[in-house]
Amino acid sequence: MTIEDNIQNLLSKREEAKLGGGLKRIESQHNKGKLTARERIDFLLDEGSFEEFDMFVTHQTNEFGLENQKYLTDGVITGHGTIDGRIVYVFSQDFTVFGGSLSQTYAQKICKVMDQAMKVGAPVIGINDSGGARIQEGVKSLAGYAEIFQRNIMASGVIPQISAIFGPCAGGAVYSPALTDFVMMSKENSYMFVTGPKVAKKVTGEDISTEDLGGPDVHAKKSGVAHFIAEDEEEGMLLIRKLLTFVPQNNLEDPIITECTDPIDRKDDLLNDIIPNNPNQPYNVRDIIYSIVDYSEFLEVQRHYAQNIVTGFSKMNGMPVGIVANQPNYLAGVLDINASRKAARFVRFCDAFNIPIITLVDVPGFLPGSAQETGGIIIHGAKLLFAYGEATVPKVTITLRKSYGGAHDVMGSKQLRGDINYAWPSAEIAVMGPEGAVEVLEGRKIAGIEDPEERQAYTKQKEEEYRKRFANPYDAASYGYIDDVIEPRNTRFRVIRALRTLASKKDTNPPKKHSNIPL
Ligand code: HXC
Repeated sequence: MTIEDNIQNLLSKREEAKLGGGLKRIESQHNKGKLTARERIDFLLDEGSFEEFDMFVTHQTNEFGLENQKYLTDGVITGHGTIDGRIVYVFSQDFTVFGGSLSQTYAQKICKVMDQAMKVGAPVIGINDSGGARIQEGVKSLAGYAEIFQRNIMASGVIPQISAIFGPCAGGAVYSPALTDFVMMSKENSYMFVTGPKVAKKVTGEDISTEDLGGPDVHAKKSGVAHFIAEDEEEGMLLIRKLLTFVPQNNLEDPIITECTDPIDRKDDLLNDIIPNNPNQPYNVRDIIYSIVDYSEFLEVQRHYAQNIVTGFSKMNGMPVGIVANQPNYLAGVLDINASRKAARFVRFCDAFNIPIITLVDVPGFLPGSAQETGGIIIHGAKLLFAYGEATVPKVTITLRKSYGGAHDVMGSKQLRGDINYAWPSAEIAVMGPEGAVEVLEGRKIAGIEDPEERQAYTKQKEEEYRKRFANPYDAASYGYIDDVIEPRNTRFRVIRALRTLASKKDTNPPKKHSNIPL
């Protein structure tokens, strides 16, 4: 063969690989409204930056007629490229080859990019669209999944791992995305479950659709498995690109600070009036977030799950920050099981990747009742407490209004190594609210007052006394638990100055194998 023949041979092999399972299956993929594995990579990465590995890999199984069905790439496209010029490793499952199902060689391809991403210290993005374990490969496929899981675990907290679910993701295969930091689902064609509708029907008798069992709505609102829901695949990939702007390449680097033209001393007079006079009246804490962060830009994480707490990323004077805020607009911002789990995981992600945490507190306490107690609010609430107490990144807490009871301690309090704790003048920091306190302390006496008017007047008077004494920021400030009481309109400037001061903060935890967070 001449050199030219050799090159021609290479080019035709490349063309063959690019066709995956063939034109007919590509058409079928498009007809479902899905992009192909390669189109997804092209959309996700900077133009022309993708370098592919293992294009010529084929499976090694010679049973069940597979010996006559070998496709170059073997159903997963792997390699690296850049996003905004920064290196990322990717794998994209190709549904046109055996339904994207995972073989031994396919798993090896994914492991190869994960191993290299760990050595280089760069994020891994996995695009999932697969029928799960390749049935013909039996236990080799199961072993392949376990190889991937092990790498997910080792990479956790070292490099950011992001999963997009743009097709089926079923059986044990769901556990690789679940082990990663963020799961993105698209509104169409995307589902995740450990056992599908048919098995569910057989085992439990439950008749349920794919959508209702593991569609994006379920995982965004009820299970909390999905962190982001995109209208379509393109939006999903743009969201991943956006997400990466807040995140460093690995745990040894800091997030990238970008230039900011939004004035750091921008005052917002509206903030001085945002807290309603009536302490029981809600407001939207997002309005405060939008007001204080750069350009009002906030990428919310798990927006539709446990809406009583808001979590997400923003920048302050160009510095990426994680924001955790109680949401008075939803269940009065109470802490419950789901809110605790949601915020704990977010805080731990920020801490693992050196992203400062800003906490906005307006919390009436933990949600009372048997449903919460039997569901384990003790253990789940402890997760959030643990996450804050363990975090060594800069932590700036602003108490906006209520900060009562155990929830006060949990939400980034001074004693959980809060670095700078501010309060607005509207803050109420105490063991409980005036109504509850008077009920406990004066209940018997109040019950003994026969005249209803007199009883009401006495109750009001006692509540007022309590409010004056405790329901304000000054009692906490008098002990130094609050560093300063600030004017709301100055919040942006004060937080940015705090972050600047804390930029060189160093704090550590005692050496140990690992902590034993209450799981
Ligand atoms: C081998 C598979 C496959 C699989 C699909 N295909 N899943 N081949 N192993 N697991 C092939 C089909 O034979 C078909 O080949 C092509 O992929 C497309 O599949 P269709 O069924 O035509 O597509 P669609 O109608 O869109 O249905 C997609 C699907 C369905 C819902 C994913 O294929 C399905 O239910 N597959 C089986 C899913 C499953 O039970 N997997 C095992 C899960 S347990 P042709 O040649 O016709 O194009 C698991 C354990 C992991 O994964 C454990 C980890 C610890």
